Amino acid sequence: MCGIVGFAGSEQAAPILLEGLERLEYRGYDSAGVAVVSPERGLQVRKSKGRLKVLEALTDGGRSLDGCVGIGHTRWATHGEPNDVNSHPHLSQSGRIAVVHNGIIENYLELKEFLTSQGTVFCSDTDTEVVAQLMDYYYLRSGDLMDAVYKTLHRLEGAYALGILCLETPDRFIAARKDAPLLLGYGEGCSFIASDVTALLRHTREVSYMEDGEVAVVSADEIVVYDAMGRRVEKEHRIVDWDVSAAEKGGYEHFMFKEIMEQPEAVRKTISPRIRDGRVVFDELKLGADFIRSLERIFIVACGSSYHVGVVGKYNLERLLRVPVEVALASEFRYADPLVGPGSLVIVISQSGETLDSMAALRLAKSLGATVLSIVNVVGSSIARESDEVLYTWAGPEIAVATTKAYSTQLVLLDMLGLFFAETRGSVSSADYALLLSELQALPARMESVLEDTEKIKYLASRYFNHDSVFYIGRNLDYALGLESSLKLKEISYVHSEAYASGELKHGTISLIEPGTLVVALGTYTPLFDKALSNIVEVQSRGADVLALTTESRAQDLRRTVEHVLTVPDTHPILEPSLGIIPMQLFAYYVALQRGCDIDKPRNLAKSVTVE
Ligand code: M6R
Repeated sequence: MCGIVGFAGSEQAAPILLEGLERLEYRGYDSAGVAVVSPERGLQVRKSKGRLKVLEALTDGGRSLDGCVGIGHTRWATHGEPNDVNSHPHLSQSGRIAVVHNGIIENYLELKEFLTSQGTVFCSDTDTEVVAQLMDYYYLRSGDLMDAVYKTLHRLEGAYALGILCLETPDRFIAARKDAPLLLGYGEGCSFIASDVTALLRHTREVSYMEDGEVAVVSADEIVVYDAMGRRVEKEHRIVDWDVSAAEKGGYEHFMFKEIMEQPEAVRKTISPRIRDGRVVFDELKLGADFIRSLERIFIVACGSSYHVGVVGKYNLERLLRVPVEVALASEFRYADPLVGPGSLVIVISQSGETLDSMAALRLAKSLGATVLSIVNVVGSSIARESDEVLYTWAGPEIAVATTKAYSTQLVLLDMLGLFFAETRGSVSSADYALLLSELQALPARMESVLEDTEKIKYLASRYFNHDSVFYIGRNLDYALGLESSLKLKEISYVHSEAYASGELKHGTISLIEPGTLVVALGTYTPLFDKALSNIVEVQSRGADVLALTTESRAQDLRRTVEHVLTVPDTHPILEPSLGIIPMQLFAYYVALQRGCDIDKPRNLAKSVTVE
């Protein structure tokens, strides 16, 4: 999704902006641009379709642009095709205002019509140009930039994070936010804005998060923030403790592989501080025991892989709590008139904490009186801030578009939450509680052992990488695991794949199985292992090539039937998805590698989906 950076200091701005944009590349983009202002050379805008290196070449690494104040943008097209003209920054007709924008201006056509009637000539197809032109319109009439900014913002409907540069104020720029993330960074003698903290880590760790309606005036020495009514606001400064190297590749060919390898550590960091004296402890939760005991229904709402964590969560929480759990796609939940109310707990899961549909679902749930608990990776993100309760996954920055370590940390955190609630409700025996807890603690070491041997997976990927269609089958938790495994494969390797609950095969899908079809059969959920085996025989007898995954204890039984069997260590059955996902991530990774795909930045995808 689009990325924004802004800088005001005493150094040349453009090289710093380009470096910041590079750190945002992982969000996915199709074009990039910068605007810099200086008293001598005025407003200079350079932008181009394609990768950042095109822009770097165009500006000699930023050195050809003069000025210490500027804004930059990576665009992921929503309005208008990806081309040079539609790229940001957008310059107003008079050449006085340049704007970068994340989000969508919903009433842009109406505003465009108004401005056209006033003589404005537009050059792009974007909604963003409307913002630059409208601001210009007001600025030319009042000569007061802040007045023009506020008048413009009051007319905008939709979502925006904005960086605004003005020819006549070369010592500062303006930032504004509504429903799209934007943070302020405080450096030594310099100031920043960014849509994502990873753009700032090289320069500062001191940040504050802009709230909806706020407008910031950013100059080298200070950032002054105002609310929607123009009143001054004192911002709370926070220190980001993410490691810079965690946001870099550290010798690996791809972020995705690095992040797969980081999973044991990320899970350890997420679990360990929350286990004390043989119990799960959530110091950060304020939920009362009475509320937990009186829970009648839980909703888990999320998108993509985070939703798949929710599918595992449904099975596991219902098992542990004996309370109905509904899992919903945020994009469906928000329009479904859900039966949520006071007394309901809605768990929102999101790595980025900025996914628009999840955010909308959260707001809907809150407006209906529910308590919202979010599981989020990015500290201070919008979802974290608007939730009643937040549990952070401590996975560190996840750069690859395909999530791996965030998924794994979400999964263990949800399992821990299940245990915590179950203990409070008395729905788990102390023996089961102790067993599950010790198995949870053993997970990181077991994940390490899965990661020790990647050769077999690499070999299998080289054997199957040219299949056009792959089916993942499994029952219960293996079905949930199949959903995520299938998404991993399709998003990075562009191989068509589907996940099916094995019991559904006979209801239609089995007609697609023909000689040579690859079926990945998941049999890690040992209570249903025998059922998994019969489904394997079923597809084999129709000619499918089967690649199976099971636990070490059941591998022998499977090897009698299937040639290619991958294994993971045994653990408590409800924790198996945490181990089973690793070979599946690696399989997707190696298939994508064989197919020569852009693994960290798959086509058409973005890391953080902040538009509907
Ligand atoms: O940041 P979120 O967890 O809210 O993101 C949700 C999905 O966009 C995300 O999981 C997506 O499906 C990933 N590309 C999967 O790898």
